[in-house]
Amino acid sequence: MNQSTPSGFALVGPGRAGTAIATALVAAGEPCRAVAGRAPDAPSTTGTASALDTRATTVAAAGRAAPLVIIATPDAEIETVAATLAATLQPGALVVHLSGAHGLDALEPLATRRADVELGALHPLQTLTGGDDASVLAGAWAAVAGPPTVTRLAHRVGLRPFPIDDAARPAYHAAAVVASNHLVALLGQVERLAAAAGVPLAAFEPLVHTTLDHVFALGPAAALTGPVARGDVETVGRHLDVIADDERRAYTALADLAGRLAGRDEAALREVLA
Ligand SMILES: NC(=O)c1ccc[n+]([C@@H]2O[C@H](COP(=O)([O-])OP(=O)(O)OC[C@H]3O[C@@H](n4cnc5c(N)ncnc54)[C@H](OP(=O)(O)O)[C@@H]3O)[C@@H](O)[C@H]2O)c1
Repeated sequence: MNQSTPSGFALVGPGRAGTAIATALVAAGEPCRAVAGRAPDAPSTTGTASALDTRATTVAAAGRAAPLVIIATPDAEIETVAATLAATLQPGALVVHLSGAHGLDALEPLATRRADVELGALHPLQTLTGGDDASVLAGAWAAVAGPPTVTRLAHRVGLRPFPIDDAARPAYHAAAVVASNHLVALLGQVERLAAAAGVPLAAFEPLVHTTLDHVFALGPAAALTGPVARGDVETVGRHLDVIADDERRAYTALADLAGRLAGRDEAALREVLA
């Protein structure tokens, strides 16, 4: 894709990630030629097409509409969409999916049927909730695979691309899931434990922000404070005495990880966590 001569793109999958990438591409001067979703009249398809000032259409028609096609469907739909696109893509088109869990293998139906098209994967290492503006991508990293045009596409929307092999993807994506989704799940536990003490989640905001700042400034091991890092096993035991049964498994698993990070493996700690 040439930066100085915008050639346009089509979006298949008008959800959280697709809308963010499409909005950023339009802001970068790349016009959106078509949007396809589950159906041309599905609310997400018509709504996104209208927001991007383009038409809502079918997956097959989207393939015909532009030399760049972004697939932003749920992971399980990528292969089906790729098979549909095979019949209609422009010669020499670039097709890119946004999944972190899958590599170029997910585009196998195109690899076997359309030797003339380029295939890529571009996973924005960012959480996209649908309400964000395109600037949420600026400065975020992105795992890319495929020809140099995929790397240029990432730069175009302000991402910082790095290559990743298909073999390394499961571990990479697991790390991303822990960094974002599990962190959110953990803060859900913070909210429940705090509520039991009559304290609002908001009271923990400066603590959480400062903790994250320390992790990225000092590294996780040096950023760790608290009873496990201090070897204060009695305090850990007092927590376990009062927290609800259904919160205990997550607490002990994470206390165990804290012990590993702190290099603590005392019998007393192992005993209280057992
Ligand atoms: N969200 C993130 O934070 C994030 C970050 C990086 C990468 N990604 C990747 O982006 C991709 C999409 O994730 P998402 O979170 O954006 O999901 P999402 O919000 O659920 O969006 C998926 C979209 O695809 C549409 N769709 C479903 N099946 C389809 C089909 N067969 N043909 C065409 N459109 C179809 C859905 O239609 P309906 O609206 O009718 O349901 C929806 O608009 C995934 O590969 C994910 O790994 C997501």
